[in-house]
Amino acid sequence: MRAAVYERYGPPEVVSVREVPPPVPGKGEVRVRVHATAVTVADARIRAARFPRGFGPSARLAFGVTRPRRHVLGSCLSGVVESVGPDVAEFAIDDEVCGMAGSRMGTHAELAVVSADRLVRKPTGVSHDDAAGVLFGGTTAWQFLHVKSTVSQGDRVLVVGGSGAVGSNAVQLAAIAGAHVTAVTSASNADLVRRLGASEVVDYGSTDITALPDRYDLVVDTVGTLRRATGRRLLEPEGVLLLVAGDLVGLISAMTARNVRGGVAAEDTADMTALLDLVDDGSLRVLLDSTVPLNDIVAAHRTVDSGHKVGNIVVRPQERPTTPAAGHAQRERSS
Ligand SMILES: NC(=O)c1ccc[n+]([C@@H]2O[C@H](COP(=O)([O-])OP(=O)(O)OC[C@H]3O[C@@H](n4cnc5c(N)ncnc54)[C@H](OP(=O)(O)O)[C@@H]3O)[C@@H](O)[C@H]2O)c1
Repeated sequence: MRAAVYERYGPPEVVSVREVPPPVPGKGEVRVRVHATAVTVADARIRAARFPRGFGPSARLAFGVTRPRRHVLGSCLSGVVESVGPDVAEFAIDDEVCGMAGSRMGTHAELAVVSADRLVRKPTGVSHDDAAGVLFGGTTAWQFLHVKSTVSQGDRVLVVGGSGAVGSNAVQLAAIAGAHVTAVTSASNADLVRRLGASEVVDYGSTDITALPDRYDLVVDTVGTLRRATGRRLLEPEGVLLLVAGDLVGLISAMTARNVRGGVAAEDTADMTALLDLVDDGSLRVLLDSTVPLNDIVAAHRTVDSGHKVGNIVVRPQERPTTPAAGHAQRERSS
C-alpha cells in the first residue's frame, strides 16, 4: 500500500509517499481503507518534534527520542472497513466508519489499523471528507466547551483563533449552545467567522486582545496568545479561561487555578457521534481549506506549518492525481 512515511524529524520535506507493507489488524482492531484523513497541527508538531514549551522531553519519550518510533503520521480517518481482527463484533467488512487512531497514528496511508473502540459508524449523510475533517478540531472544541467547562445559553464567549480547525468548531459549538460569540481572527477571515456564528469579530492585527474592554464567561485560546494573568483580565468573576494551545506553564495554571482549564482533549467516541450528528443535520459546518491526494501531502504540511490554514486540510489516499498538482483549493467549502 502507499503511505506518507517520515523517518526523521524535520521540515515538511522529510515526508515522502512510498510503498510499504499494509498494517495487520490484531485483536480488537479494524483495518480501514482510508478515503479521507486530515493533516493537523498535531501531525506537523510531531513531524517537526516542535512541541509546546515544556512538553519536549515527554513528547520525545512518547514519539521517539532521536528519531520517530512510528513512521506514518495521521490520527483522523474516514473510510470503509477492509478487514477485522479477532474479537471485533461491532464492525464488519464494508461498514463505513470514522474515528481517531490516537498516538498509534498511521492514517496518512491507503490502509490504516485502528482499535475498534476508537471508531464510530459514519452517518451516510456525512461525506468522508467532512467526517475526517471534523474530528480533530471538533473533538477538541467539544471537550473544552462541554467537558472541561460548560457553555450555556446566553454566555459571552471569546474564541481566539476563530478560523482554525479548533476555533471554527469552538465558534460554532458555542453559537449552537446559544452563546454570544466574539471571534478573534485576521481581517481576511472576519466575514467567514461571522458566517460561522460569531456576533462580533476582533482583528488581532489591529487590536491588542489582552486590552479588550469586555468581560467573558468563557475565553477559548486556540493560539497561545494568553497566559493566566492576561486571560484572567478578560473574565467575568465566575468566568473560565480555556488554554487549548497552552504550554507547560499553562497546564500548571490549569491544575492549580480554579478558573483555568487546559491539558489534552480526550478522543471520545461519544463526542465524535455528537459532532457527526450536528454535521449530518446541517448545524455544524466543516471548513475544508483544501482536499488533496496523498502525493500532495508535503504541500499540506507546509500549509499547516504556516499557522494560517482555514479549518482543515483533508487528504484522500484513494485519489490518484490526474495532473502534477491535482490538489484543489476549496477554501470555505462546507458540508
Ligand atoms: N489541548 C489539546 O488537546 C489540543 C488539541 C488540538 C489542538 N491543540 C492546539 O490548538 C492549537 C490550534 O490548533 P488548530 O488545529 O486549530 O490550528 P490551525 O487550524 O492551524 O489554526 C490556527 C488559527 O490561528 C489563527 N491565528 C494565528 N495567529 C493568530 C493570532 N495572533 N490571533 C488570533 N488568531 C491567530 C489563524 O488564523 P488567521 O489565518 O486568520 O491568522 C488560524 O486560523 C494548536 O497549537 C494545537 O497544538 C490542542
